[in-house]
Amino acid sequence: MAKYSVKHIAIALNVVLFSILSLFLATRIYLYFFPELRSGIDCIPISYPPTHPYITSPIPTVHYGNLGCPITPKILPKPGPKVALASFPGSGNSWVRYLMEQGSGYYTGSVYIDRKLQSYGNLESVFNSSVIAIKTHESHGIINKYFTKAIDYKKCILIVRNPKQTLIAEINRFFTNDHTKSVQTSKWKSDNIQQKLLELAYGWKSFMLSWLDYSNPLLVVQYEKLMENYQLELHRILRFLELDINEEGMQCLEHNNSGYFKRFKQSEPYLSPEVLLLIQHVYSEVEPLLTRHNVTHYSGIIN
Ligand SMILES: *[C@@H]1O[C@H](CO)[C@@H](O)[C@H](O)[C@H]1NC(C)=O
Ligand SMILES: *[C@@H]1O[C@H](CO)[C@@H](O)[C@H](O)[C@H]1NC(C)=O
Ligand SMILES: *[C@@H]1O[C@H](CO)[C@@H](O)[C@H](O)[C@H]1NC(C)=O
Repeated sequence: MAKYSVKHIAIALNVVLFSILSLFLATRIYLYFFPELRSGIDCIPISYPPTHPYITSPIPTVHYGNLGCPITPKILPKPGPKVALASFPGSGNSWVRYLMEQGSGYYTGSVYIDRKLQSYGNLESVFNSSVIAIKTHESHGIINKYFTKAIDYKKCILIVRNPKQTLIAEINRFFTNDHTKSVQTSKWKSDNIQQKLLELAYGWKSFMLSWLDYSNPLLVVQYEKLMENYQLELHRILRFLELDINEEGMQCLEHNNSGYFKRFKQSEPYLSPEVLLLIQHVYSEVEPLLTRHNVTHYSGIIN
C-alpha cells in the first residue's frame, strides 16, 4: 500500500512540475523574471536622469560659432501631459524625436529600451510626465504580455509615412537589426521577407486605424511633409504641445537636421505583386480617415 503511494506521489509530483515548467515556458512568464531575455520591446528602468546622456558612445559636439550642437535636451521642469509619439515602425520616429528635442530643448521618452538609440543619447524606457512625448509602436490602448497596463495618454502625435516606404524601412531595420543599414538586394526576393511584408501590411492597417480613431487631441504629422519643410511641421508639433521654441536647438537643426538616423540607400527592394496588392488594399481602408487629417494621398506612390 505504502509502496504504491510513494510511486503515485512521485508521478503526480512529476506531472505537476512538468506542467508548471511548460506553463512557465509557453506563456513566456519567464520574461518577467529575466527581463534581460526580452529583445527589442522591453521596459527595464535605467538610471534616470542619465548622469551623462550619451551612455555608451559620447556624441561629438560640433561647434558652430558659439553653439555646441546638437544641444543636450533637459527633463521637463514640471510634469507635462503624457503625449504619445505613435508611429508604425519604419516611419521615422527616431528622426522626429531628434527634431522635437532640438526644437524644444526637452527630452522625448519611449516605452521601449532600444540599446542603439540609448547609445545615441535617447532616453529609453521613460514613459511618464517628465518628457514631452513618448515613443510607441503599439496600437492605441494595447494590452499584451509586455504592456499589461495601457498608458493614459492625453494627446497623440501620429507620424504617417507612405506605407510602402514604411514597410521597406522596417524590413531593413528588422533584418539588419540596425537603424541605418539595408538588406542586400539579392535577399529581397526570399519568402522570409515577402512573408514578413504581408504581416507588416496587416499590422500597419490595425495600428493606423486604432490611432486615427483616437478621441483625445490628435496631430497627424506626415513624414513626407517633414522632409519637404521640417521647420513648418516642427512648429506645428510644438504648438500642439504648447511648448516654446528653443532657438539654439533650432539653429543646430539648420546646420544638421538629419541626426544619426539616415538610412543610406544601398539596395533595391523587391515587393511581390501579392504584397503590393495588399498594401494597396490596406491603404484604401485607412485613406478616408487620413484624408480627414489633411494627409495627402499616397495612392499614386504605392505602385
Ligand atoms: C519618470 O520615470 C523615470 C524612469 O522610470 C523615473 O526615474 C522618474 O523618477 C520618473 N519621473 C517622474 C516625474 O515621475
Ligand atoms: C549630422 O550629424 C550626425 C551626428 O553628428 C553626423 O553623423 C552626420 O554626418 C551629420 N550630417 C551632416 C549632413 O552634416
Ligand atoms: C485641413 O486643412 C484645412 C485647410 O487648410 C484646415 O482648415 C483644417 O483645419 C485642416 N484640418 C486638420 C485636421 O488639420
